[in-house]
Amino acid sequence: MNMIRLTIDNQEVTTSKGLTILDAAKNAGITIPTLCYHERLNPIGSCRLCVVEVDGESEPVTACTTPVEDGMLVTTQSDLLFRLRQNALKLILANHPLDCPVCDKAGACMLQDLTFEYKITSIDCPAPKRNFIPSYQTTFIKHWPERCIVCQRCVNACKEVQCIGAIDVEKTEDGPQLTFNRDKCVSCGECVQVCPVGGMLEKKSSLRWRSWETTKIRTTCPYCGVGCQQLLHVKNGKIVQVTGVEDAEPNKGRLCVKGRYGFDFIYSEDRLKTPLIKENGQFREASWDEALDLITQKFTEIIAKHGPDALAGVSCARSINEDSYNMQKLFRAVIGTNNIDHCART
Ligand code: FES
Repeated sequence: MNMIRLTIDNQEVTTSKGLTILDAAKNAGITIPTLCYHERLNPIGSCRLCVVEVDGESEPVTACTTPVEDGMLVTTQSDLLFRLRQNALKLILANHPLDCPVCDKAGACMLQDLTFEYKITSIDCPAPKRNFIPSYQTTFIKHWPERCIVCQRCVNACKEVQCIGAIDVEKTEDGPQLTFNRDKCVSCGECVQVCPVGGMLEKKSSLRWRSWETTKIRTTCPYCGVGCQQLLHVKNGKIVQVTGVEDAEPNKGRLCVKGRYGFDFIYSEDRLKTPLIKENGQFREASWDEALDLITQKFTEIIAKHGPDALAGVSCARSINEDSYNMQKLFRAVIGTNNIDHCART
């Protein structure tokens, strides 16, 4: 790998060729503010929060799109950069409602944090009143056009990460706005996961919790055998949101619609709490001993009449590995058949 040397904020940094200034700075522990940049997406340099000064360049450049060069001298903090970043934020805020008290993203909003960091107490850029296209929503997600800063993270995540391309940007007379293709959208929520503000939100958890009220618990998605890593956001002992763990394999933040939104069943009144035995077409509750005795009796009858290969076992992807192991052991060693399978195999 070709290594090069550059200086960032008077710190000598050795890094591989092909990286951007932002990557090199991050690897060296130097923080540059960003908004449209997301490490799982190709940078597009739209927000201009990451501007840095490079010796020899007449104007500051965006660190997320500028590749490192040998001998480069980079400055990431200066009065000029502070002012430029402040102005970039003011332009965004001129069209962004300050409705943080009722926005679900409050407390986890990058724009809110940057506004605080860059000490913006008033918006002095007059902005014409805009007409927004109607919000897009599915059962699980909702786009808030008024809060959207059109950073295009969601557009790229839908295209590059999910390979769906259901979101696009349209030029309107009121400025660029997002458009959604309802036929393509699968409500996976990747757009919500990458949105830095309250532009894309989860519909069913809206106004039910504040980000600082939840405890985040890491777990493995129980739905299939892929083993996606999740963060459960728990309030008062109940899961209120599920997000993907950005820096963990195998999903790197991605989740399917079931993994992200299919957690309500946990609290369903309809969940089975005891075995049911069907008699005369009707189910009745039974004890585990009674149910297991009945299964043993039925299995024994089938084996006696048709042999052990008349039975087959399929283990569920929600089972832990040890349970799947025990299932195949039961079928192979006790029942005497190799007819076993696992629903995640396909
Ligand atoms: Fe670089 Fe937005 S983070 S331009």
